[in-house]
Amino acid sequence: MSESHKAQVQAQFGASAHDYVTSPGHAGGADLEQVVAWGRKRGAPRVLDVATGGGHTALAFSAFTPTVISTDLTPSMLAAARGFIQSKATTGNVRFLASDVEALPFRDSTYGVVTCRLAAHHFPAILPALKEVARVLRPGGSLLVEDILGHEDRELAAFILEIEKRRDPSHVRALTHREWEAFLKAAGMTVIDESTLTKSRPWEEWTARMRMAPEAKADLERFVLDAPARWREAFGFTIQDGRIQTFSDRLILIRADRD
Ligand SMILES: C[S@@+](CC[C@H](N)C(=O)[O-])C[C@H]1O[C@@H](n2cnc3c(N)ncnc32)[C@H](O)[C@@H]1O
Repeated sequence: MSESHKAQVQAQFGASAHDYVTSPGHAGGADLEQVVAWGRKRGAPRVLDVATGGGHTALAFSAFTPTVISTDLTPSMLAAARGFIQSKATTGNVRFLASDVEALPFRDSTYGVVTCRLAAHHFPAILPALKEVARVLRPGGSLLVEDILGHEDRELAAFILEIEKRRDPSHVRALTHREWEAFLKAAGMTVIDESTLTKSRPWEEWTARMRMAPEAKADLERFVLDAPARWREAFGFTIQDGRIQTFSDRLILIRADRD
């Protein structure tokens, strides 16, 4: 992966590590429940959580998995996740390792389940990441992945990408449903189950989490308010007294098994 992009991810998330631990949108919700339900059904002695962020997925899996390994590119994020998980979990069955998803420090066929929640849109190239995940999965093992769903409509995709990139320059792009299926297949995995859902994002909290400068935030709000109504409606922007209140993230969740 490009070193400059890696540094950008680490700068963005390093500064906001604590805010990802306390983010209600990451701490729970129907999306995390779905990933956990798949994980419980699947069951595995060792689960690898890639791009662990504040550690919410790893913590949830640690409740029913003998060993969970949390990995993340950003060392300070991993430290925040460690502090959070150790303050919550009583079992001490989560281990932490800094690593890039494109170079996981594990032997082939090590894991029965790999989780990756709300992170793939930061990966500069999805195929090398998915191939690396497939390499560490046992044959028949499951990748449980969740991410922002990319839009098939080019105007809408460009609109939300502009918003995402202004808020977080390390955002690369969200894949469409068809792209997910194609990349998973190319990486040697088969989609077994999938679902989509929307999640409301409170604008103030969402922009504050990435520490947007006040001027950049005001410019972004203006950009959204000046956009065609059709674009705003597609993402469920709610506006009160000329100020953005919330919008909806469309999420895709997939269980894909290694061939
Ligand atoms: C939004 S957080 C993940 C949230 C978390 N999975 C959860 O369930 O709450 C995104 C994380 O992706 C990590 N990340 C981005 N690019 C990465 C890469 N190439 N390899 C590993 N982690 C990466 C970031 O450091 C950040 O901690």
